[in-house]
Amino acid sequence: MAGQTTKGKGMITEEENYKTSNNPLAVESWDSYIGQEKVKERLQVKIKAAMERYEQMDAALILGQSGTGKSSIARLIADEHAVPFIDLMITPNFSISALNNILVQFDEDGGGIVFLDEIHNFSKKDQHYLYSILEDNCITYGAKHSGKRHYFVNAVTIIAATTDENLLTKALRGRFGAPYRLGAYSDKEMGQIVERMAIKMGFTPTIEECIALGQAAAGSPRQAGDLIKTARDLGSMAIEPILELAEITRDGLTVDHIAILDSIFNLGGITGLENITNHSGRAKDDIVDLEKLLVRKGFIEMTGKGRALTGRGVKALREARLKK
Ligand SMILES: Nc1ncnc2c1ncn2[C@@H]1O[C@H](COP(=O)(O)OP(=O)(O)OP(=O)(O)O)[C@@H](O)[C@H]1O
Ligand SMILES: [Mg+2]
Repeated sequence: MAGQTTKGKGMITEEENYKTSNNPLAVESWDSYIGQEKVKERLQVKIKAAMERYEQMDAALILGQSGTGKSSIARLIADEHAVPFIDLMITPNFSISALNNILVQFDEDGGGIVFLDEIHNFSKKDQHYLYSILEDNCITYGAKHSGKRHYFVNAVTIIAATTDENLLTKALRGRFGAPYRLGAYSDKEMGQIVERMAIKMGFTPTIEECIALGQAAAGSPRQAGDLIKTARDLGSMAIEPILELAEITRDGLTVDHIAILDSIFNLGGITGLENITNHSGRAKDDIVDLEKLLVRKGFIEMTGKGRALTGRGVKALREARLKK
């Protein structure tokens, strides 16, 4: 699909858009975005239809675990439209009035695509203020702002992403229409992601290297990127030195995963989240995120009495300790 629209004074070319990303491993086209075929297909139909109407696509919500390609896909959407793109990381301190000011300015500059990353960090009360943006193409200021409204003059499309859809109100989720859910990457796709990244870094990787590093990336393209950047630093695709320097096991466990296994082991092999938090020194939210991989790999099991270390988990812990 060719991406060129007329957008008034805010228009920038696709080339200029790429320059806003200084990530050497950034995905630069739909073809180099591996996997997620259904999501890509749906988005391409939406974008094509919108562009044929000389419009931008409707708001979209992208769901996916951390490091699985949400920001990359938002950037591809903007590149396809060839319109300006702003990437806003919503933190718990990000106020809705700050967002309003940014959006008014963005609209006055010609509009484009606004990416609201980690949108669940808006409080439930603040999520309410997003309804009118999604539904009526305008910003409603709260009582403090004397009920003012700003209607967008230009096209402003909100693309939102979250790792935790449960923190979004049902009403907000519903206003985005059917979400774009990024699924798990297969081993083959992870190998292809590693291959593409390695080639970008000037390597000619073997199939074995792609498979091994793909596995060590544990379903996270971001982790694959970390491994390939380590390969660049070492000047070699040799697997063991990369894993050692990156402090990642063949199964994709990081030092934080090992710390959780270690805590459960030291706390008697079965224990609750609170105890693991205190023992490992890791934040509770991080543990909940990290243990997903441990469960997936069969290293721990969720039981009525807490998190239980399995035989495979003990083996993985022993191997990680031997490497130290
Ligand atoms: N499907 C994919 N194909 C190839 N490379 C990918 C893919 N998805 C992500 N990547 C690579 O992984 C990196 C991380 O992806 P991205 O930043 O888009 O993930 P994210 O879901 O936004 O992460 P976070 O939740 O941390 O914000 C990208 O810079 C890109 O190099
Ligand atoms: Mg992101």
